[in-house]
Amino acid sequence: MTPFPVTVRGLGLGLPAGVVTNDDLAKTLDTNDEWISARTGIRSRRVLEDDKALSHIAILAGKEALEESGVDPNDIHLTIVATVTPDTFMPATACRVAAALGCHQSGALDLNIACSGFLYAFITACAQIKSGLAQNVLVIGGDTLSRITNWEDRRTAVLFGDGAGAAVLSAGGPGELLGYDYGAKGHLSEALQITAGPSRPSDNPTDYKTQMDGRAVFRFATAAMVDSSRRSLAMAQLPLDKVDLVVPHQANLRIIESAAKKWGLPMEKVCVNLDKYGNVSAGSIPIALAEAKKEGRIKPGHHILLAGFGGGLSWGSVVLKWGNLC
Ligand code: ACO
Repeated sequence: MTPFPVTVRGLGLGLPAGVVTNDDLAKTLDTNDEWISARTGIRSRRVLEDDKALSHIAILAGKEALEESGVDPNDIHLTIVATVTPDTFMPATACRVAAALGCHQSGALDLNIACSGFLYAFITACAQIKSGLAQNVLVIGGDTLSRITNWEDRRTAVLFGDGAGAAVLSAGGPGELLGYDYGAKGHLSEALQITAGPSRPSDNPTDYKTQMDGRAVFRFATAAMVDSSRRSLAMAQLPLDKVDLVVPHQANLRIIESAAKKWGLPMEKVCVNLDKYGNVSAGSIPIALAEAKKEGRIKPGHHILLAGFGGGLSWGSVVLKWGNLC
């Protein structure tokens, strides 16, 4: 692919204040900090207050990203909220978020492909920009998985958290999209699913909660993330040793370590923050990206690989040459 000039001009975070530690969970579940830390790397997660919804943290993230970017909200042409936990099915959460942020000239859509959502939204934003339909796109990934977690199921309850991250993408350099890849294997969907929904109602409340075959997802995850990254890097014509930083989906430290081994990259080049937040689904990559930027781990000219997987089962990856202007 010919490198395509697109620049991430701003990043933002939207994190709920409430922290739930592994020890907190062990008070009501048959689990313990040792099991959770050893099997997943997670030590705590954020949980949104009951009287708030996804839009609350999506707006926080979007506001910070817009402020950092210096882009006038009225110059945002599209707002995408990637999520599996919208406030409501109508309106799209993106409509509420765009209105609250003053993006009055912006189209608005929610995009649901679970944990791969931010990557799909990022690629969609780049396509809109490349086609000339949009100059600036606000991409938000966020989820409130606490709302769709069965808190009595220790196999899933210990894994998930709430949070949102955002990016403002603008046409033109100095940044570049170098490669991308995404896909889904619907025939594997039963490994990670919610069996009831608006057009498939159920009398059983747990059918509205996340069900997961952890081992099946684990097997899928590493291969999907690594294979997708290889395709993106091949498109970018970039060898792995030229990657400065990988921002992977934050589901399980063992999955990330296994992927790093397959990439042949040291863990210093791989972002990990799941110890603090658990798995935040579509929020996980933009939160990790925004934190990495704040920590000074991303510099202009760096080659950044974003890679993830999720319900679907789905996957995605993006290779960027970083050209942040802020
Ligand atoms: N605390 C204590 N014990 C537990 C817990 C818990 N929270 N959960 C399960 N166990 C027990 C099981 O009951 C089982 O006991 P048994 O041997 O007596 O039957 C034992 O621990 C081992 O259970 P496994 O499920 O085999 O544990 P495993 O090593 O596979 O780890 C885990 C489970 C952490 C879920 C792992 O499979 C995993 O991370 N899978 C991928 C999950 C993932 O990435 N999900 C999200 C993907 S997409 C998205 O982001 C939404």
